[in-house]
Amino acid sequence: MSGHRPLAVAIVGAGPAGAFTAAELWRHGSECSIDLIDRLPTPWGLLRGGVAPDHGEIKSLERHFESETFARGARFFGNVEVGRDICHADLAARYDAIVYAIGAQADRRLGLPGEDLPGSVAARSFVGWYNGHPDFAELGPDLSHQTAVVIGNGNVAADVARILVRDVDELASTEISDLALSALRLSQIRRVILLGRRGPAQAAFTSSELRQLGGLLGVTPIVEPRDLELDIASEQWLAESGTFTAHSNMELLREYASRATTAGDGKRIEFRFFGSPVGLHGSDRVEAIEVRRNRLVRRADGRIGSVAVEGETELIPCGLVLRSVGYRPTSVPGVPFDEVEAVIPNERGRVIDHGRPMLGTYVVGWSKRGSIGILGTNKRDARETVTCLIEDHRGGRLLSPTRRDDDITALLSGTRVVTGSGWRTIDRAERSLGAASERPRVKLSTLDDLLAAAAV
Ligand SMILES: Cc1cc2nc3c(=O)[nH]c(=O)nc-3n(C[C@H](O)[C@H](O)[C@H](O)COP(=O)(O)OP(=O)(O)OC[C@H]3O[C@@H](n4cnc5c(N)ncnc54)[C@H](O)[C@@H]3O)c2cc1C
Ligand SMILES: NC(=O)c1ccc[n+]([C@@H]2O[C@H](COP(=O)([O-])OP(=O)(O)OC[C@H]3O[C@@H](n4cnc5c(N)ncnc54)[C@H](OP(=O)(O)O)[C@@H]3O)[C@@H](O)[C@H]2O)c1
Repeated sequence: MSGHRPLAVAIVGAGPAGAFTAAELWRHGSECSIDLIDRLPTPWGLLRGGVAPDHGEIKSLERHFESETFARGARFFGNVEVGRDICHADLAARYDAIVYAIGAQADRRLGLPGEDLPGSVAARSFVGWYNGHPDFAELGPDLSHQTAVVIGNGNVAADVARILVRDVDELASTEISDLALSALRLSQIRRVILLGRRGPAQAAFTSSELRQLGGLLGVTPIVEPRDLELDIASEQWLAESGTFTAHSNMELLREYASRATTAGDGKRIEFRFFGSPVGLHGSDRVEAIEVRRNRLVRRADGRIGSVAVEGETELIPCGLVLRSVGYRPTSVPGVPFDEVEAVIPNERGRVIDHGRPMLGTYVVGWSKRGSIGILGTNKRDARETVTCLIEDHRGGRLLSPTRRDDDITALLSGTRVVTGSGWRTIDRAERSLGAASERPRVKLSTLDDLLAAAAV
């Protein structure tokens, strides 16, 4: 990296995209000072607060992130929200470049009547609750009914369905939040319906997630064989453009359909395809979901879409509806946002404002692409954004900070900032609580507990 002083970069959001961005910056040379700013007292975003607690091997990626960031000298400013505690202009006056890696902090809405009835919960909230995210400690989902419906056929839907019915003693050895563990021990949910608006060949599950749903202790996967009889449009689409995943998902679903269904009161996950929700019903909480039957059509762009079959609706009684149709990015004041695409507008990671690149301002991860992609996708994405940043550095097109020598610490005197050492203290406290019960960690799940632990 050229220049006489280190390039000063603020990365807003210490999730996977932020961590991969730090690693990419260092790949270009060592003359770089990096501050990672996060609204939570803990880093790693959805790796900590999204990835399911029973996916322990994936959670261990945090060690890699640690070694690529704080171990290499990046500073952590936790419990600092850009847009609340500090603003874009404050950062622009102090850094050569700012990279927004703020993920997707809201939910896609369905626009259905009854969507906000108690008992209708966004998967994002439910996931945050079982992962000990402090924003969702109070969620208290009602698990006192037998049937839950999960809207959506993506990997998040698979995660929440699995957590609802997985053997609680198995979950007890993971880092699931204690609040969720206690609630799941008392749960009455026996039947989870996974509702897909299109067909089995279009389901967005990856095969490993779908396979896990068929191997849960005491849980029967139920698939109607007639749902697997593909119509001509799907048959053609699968043959011409079906991915390896689509083919192997079909195989798995065929195998589930062929399993003998055990009678009795065992738990079950029912896959329902070709069904769109049209409304949630109940006097003061969810009592049923109304689902319309769809058929598939091949659109002009080759994509398979769904249209309603006139007059075919069904009312499914249920006490919990989890809406799992995607997370929605948001922005911060002073940084543009495209409301239609729901992303921070950008070209290869350069933030675009009124048609022109915004000097020294970049975006990466889910806030750049929308809520699409696994952890590794953010690594490639960070490479693209950092390549642009370095090109701009070499071309003299970064910010010209007027208060370069002022540390942001002075601006944050009214905020209880959690530093890298504060985070390490939280981490040690959680791991030592976990060691006592042979769990990877016991999460501190409220802001007060996290801040108190960081201050020790
Ligand atoms: C439920 C779920 C499970 C998943 N499981 C897997 C899995 O098993 N395997 C896999 O490969 N992928 C998984 N993924 C996908 C993976 O988590 C994402 O690809 C990845 O987390 C996106 O990274 P990101 O950094 O863009 O966003 P995030 O992970 O959301 O990180 C954004 C960070 O920005 C911070 N932030 C937001 N706003 C501000 C602000 N104004 N100021 C300061 N900080 C802010 C947030 O606190 C957060 O830490 C899962 C996703 C979900 C939703
Ligand atoms: N283990 C893992 O690797 C893992 C775990 C969790 C998440 N992730 C990743 O994180 C990303 C986000 O996952 P996600 O599950 O939130 O999103 P997703 O994969 O995009 O799935 C969203 C689902 O919601 C459906 N949907 C959207 N709008 C709808 C509507 N109006 N009515 C009914 N259904 C609707 C979609 O159906 P259509 O297809 O018809 O649009 C799709 O089935 C994905 O890339 C995923 O792979 C990975």
